[in-house]
Amino acid sequence: MHAVVVSVHEAEVELASDVLWSLGVVAIEERPTALHVELWTSLGEDTDAVSAVLSQRLGPWPWRFVEVDETVADNWRAHAEPVWVDNDLVICPSWVPFAAVDGVTTLRIEPGSTFGLGDHPTTILSMRAVRASLVGGATVLDVGCGSGVLAVGACVLGASKATAIDISPASVPTTEANAAANGVADRVRVSTTPLALIDGTYDIVVANILAPVLIELADDLRRVVAPGGVLVISGVLAGHHQHVEAALRPLRTRTVSTHNGWAALTLAAV
Ligand SMILES: C[S@@+](CC[C@H](N)C(=O)[O-])C[C@H]1O[C@@H](n2cnc3c(N)ncnc32)[C@H](O)[C@@H]1O
Repeated sequence: MHAVVVSVHEAEVELASDVLWSLGVVAIEERPTALHVELWTSLGEDTDAVSAVLSQRLGPWPWRFVEVDETVADNWRAHAEPVWVDNDLVICPSWVPFAAVDGVTTLRIEPGSTFGLGDHPTTILSMRAVRASLVGGATVLDVGCGSGVLAVGACVLGASKATAIDISPASVPTTEANAAANGVADRVRVSTTPLALIDGTYDIVVANILAPVLIELADDLRRVVAPGGVLVISGVLAGHHQHVEAALRPLRTRTVSTHNGWAALTLAAV
C-alpha cells in the first residue's frame, strides 16, 4: 500500500492538511522531524492519478510515496471519537458505541472516503452557524457536502429539505447512506451537479470549502441565497478572510466565529 508523505514547515501544517482534506483523504498523521513536519496520508493505489493530482494541487510542498504494510486510512478509525458541537448536539462516528442521552441530538456519520467525520474545526463551526440561522422548515444548500454531515444535520435539526452537492463522486452514496442512517433520506438530495447549474434559492447556503474555491464560486453562492436568507462559509483562516468577504459583496458579514485557528462567517444581504 502506498502512503503519501508531504513535508511542510510547521507554520503551514494546517494549510497543507486542508489541501489534502479537500482531495478526499480520510486521515492525516502528523510526524515532526528535525526540520519539518511530515503529513502521512493515503490517496489510493492509482499512483499515476495521485501523482497528477498532487503535482497540480500541492504547490510548493515536496511529497513522496512510501510503501507501508497497513493502510493509514484505516488506522484512524480506532481513535475516532464523538464530537460535541454544542451541549445538546453530538456527531458520532457510526461505528463508535454511544448511548443516547436525553435532550441530546446525536448524528451518526460514516465518512467512507469523503471529508466530514464532523471533527474538523470548520465542520463544527459550520454546523453551529447553520443551526443558529435555522428556523423550522428552512431550505438548505450544502455546497461541498463531503459525507453530507451538514445537510443531514440541518434536516435532523428541522430543515424541510437539503440539497447537497460535491465534486467528489464518493460523496453521493456516502451522503445518501448518512441521510438514511439519521432518518432524513426523504429530505436530502445529493448529486455532483456543479453549483453553476443549481436553480432556485435557499434559506441557508453553507459552503465549507477552502478560500480560493469560495472566491471562484462567489457569484453563484450569492445567486442561490434566498431573499432574507444567509450564506455560511468556513474553510477560511481566522483573521484572514477579508478577500473572501470582498468577493461575496454585496453580502455583508453578520457574525464571525473561530475555533482552533479557523473561522466561519454568516453573511446576508444588507
Ligand atoms: C472541507 S470539505 C467539507 C465537507 C463537509 N461539508 C464538512 O463540513 O465536513 C470540502 C468539500 O468540498 C468539495 N469541493 C471542493 N471544491 C468544490 C466545488 N467547486 N464544488 C463543490 N464541492 C467542492 C470537496 O470535494 C470536499 O468534499
